[in-house]
Amino acid sequence: MPPLKIAPSILASDFSRLGEEVRAVIDAGADWIHIDVMDGHFTPNITIGPAVVASLRTHSTVPLDVHLMISDPDRYIRDFADAGADIITFHVEAAKHPHRTLTMIKELGCQAGIVLNPGTSHDEIEFLADYVDLVLLMTVNPGFGGQKFIPEMLRKIQYVRAMLGERDLEVDGGIDAETAAQVIQAGANVLVAGSYIYRSRSYLAAIESLRANE
Ligand code: DX5
Ligand code: ZN
Repeated sequence: MPPLKIAPSILASDFSRLGEEVRAVIDAGADWIHIDVMDGHFTPNITIGPAVVASLRTHSTVPLDVHLMISDPDRYIRDFADAGADIITFHVEAAKHPHRTLTMIKELGCQAGIVLNPGTSHDEIEFLADYVDLVLLMTVNPGFGGQKFIPEMLRKIQYVRAMLGERDLEVDGGIDAETAAQVIQAGANVLVAGSYIYRSRSYLAAIESLRANE
């Protein structure tokens, strides 16, 4: 399995101090910064656009992992790449031609990944797996932080790990020290965590507890 990485989701941070919040988790050992982009259409919530990504770029010494939860991702990929995204993932449920979207992301110099909602089968990516740098499996329904981990996703993680070999398999939603142990055991190696890290008293202790099961 590739090395374990922790990707704090800034969705749960204090938005009035975003730059500071990003630097704080990097100082505490974050490997990537996970940025949740929602459009109020694909998801019931609205969050962050390219301008915010661009302003965070100078605050981050680690890769910016931009998770697009938006309809018609092709329309906005260039904007997020220009803003400084290092990794761009999009939902297979939102893309009309996911193979084309993957190609676009790579041509812009970013790593490209496909995201699957909890209800979407791993079969959806069977014929795309050779073209991805990573896969992100949602372990809650996209839209909000602080939701409960869906345990059936552990079986999907196992299937997707077998497809990906040594590439990154990211999980997102309801990750805490307990579920981290389960997803790592199943084959995930990139853990997104929002509330668990940003609602803790010590970002360092929270990140270390997620790594404890490595
Ligand atoms: C949910 C987002 C997640 C969210 C995770 O739609 O994609 O990245 O921030 O939050 P927690 O870790 O609180 O479940
Ligand atoms: Zn996310």
